[in-house]
Amino acid sequence: MKLSNNKILITGGASGIGLGLTERFIQEGNTVIICGRRQSVLQEVADKFPGVITKTCDLSSEEDRIDLFNWVSEHHPDLNVLINNAGIQQWMPISDDNFFERAKSEITTNIEAPVHLTALFSGLKSLNAILNVTSGLAFVPFTKVPVYSATKAFFHSFTLSSRYLLKPKNIEVIEIIPPALNTDLGGKGLHDTQPPVSDFIDAVFQQLAEGKSEITFGFADAMAKATPEEIQGAFNRLNP
Ligand SMILES: NC(=O)c1ccc[n+]([C@@H]2O[C@H](COP(=O)([O-])OP(=O)(O)OC[C@H]3O[C@@H](n4cnc5c(N)ncnc54)[C@H](OP(=O)(O)O)[C@@H]3O)[C@@H](O)[C@H]2O)c1
Repeated sequence: MKLSNNKILITGGASGIGLGLTERFIQEGNTVIICGRRQSVLQEVADKFPGVITKTCDLSSEEDRIDLFNWVSEHHPDLNVLINNAGIQQWMPISDDNFFERAKSEITTNIEAPVHLTALFSGLKSLNAILNVTSGLAFVPFTKVPVYSATKAFFHSFTLSSRYLLKPKNIEVIEIIPPALNTDLGGKGLHDTQPPVSDFIDAVFQQLAEGKSEITFGFADAMAKATPEEIQGAFNRLNP
C-alpha cells in the first residue's frame, strides 16, 4: 500500500497499538478516522491531533457496525483503507464461573466484528487495503488467555483467505502480527513489562514501505516462521 494520501479507518485507534498507527499515519500525510467505545479517549486524541476524525461505536454490536459503515459511506465515501485493530484479551482459566460469558465477548470483538467489517467495507468502491492486527499468539497459544489466542489463530487464517478472495477486487490484505507490547490490553498493568509500542511501529512502517504483506517483529516474527519443533518449544516456555 502507499503510505501517504490515504483515508484510513483504524478501529481502536485511540490507544495502544492503534494510537501508534494513528500518530504515524498522520505524520505520513494521511487522513485518519478512529473509532472506539470511550468517547473521552477519542476526544483526547482529537484534541492532540486536530485532523483526526472520531466516531464512537461498540464493535461488539452488529447494529453499531452497520451504523459505522453507513456513516463512513455517507460522510467518507473516499475511505480506502480499513485497519481491523480493536481487540480485547481475557485472562481466565476454563474453570472460571463466567468463563463462557467472557469467551463470547472475546469471540464477538476479535472475530465477529472484523469478519463483519471486512464484508461491509470490501463493498466500498474506494477500498484498496485492509490491515488486520493479529498476534504472535496466533501461532502458539498462551494458555492464560486461551480464547484470545484462539481468536487470533482464527483471524490469521481468515486473513490468508481474505487476501486470496479480495485480490480480484484489487483489495490488498496485510497482516500485522505484533509480539507482546506495553499497552492496556487485558487490563491496566498486565503488559507493563513489555517493550514500548514505538519500536514496533517503526518496524511496521519499514515493512509496509518494503511492500510486505505479513508484518512481524521480535517474538511474533520468530513464531510466524517457526518449525513445529520450535512452536512446541515456545509453547513449553510460555506455559511452564
Ligand atoms: N499489546 C499486545 O501485547 C498485543 C500483542 C499482539 C496483538 N495485539 C493486538 O493489538 C490490537 C490492539 O490492542 P492494544 O494492545 O493496543 O490494546 P488496547 O490499548 O487495549 O487497545 C484496544 C483498542 O480496541 C478498542 N476496542 C476494544 N473493544 C472494542 C469494541 N467493542 N468496540 C470498539 N472498540 C473496541 C479499545 O477502545 P475502547 O476501549 O474505547 O472501546 C482500544 O482502543 C488488538 O487486536 C490486540 O489483540 C496486542
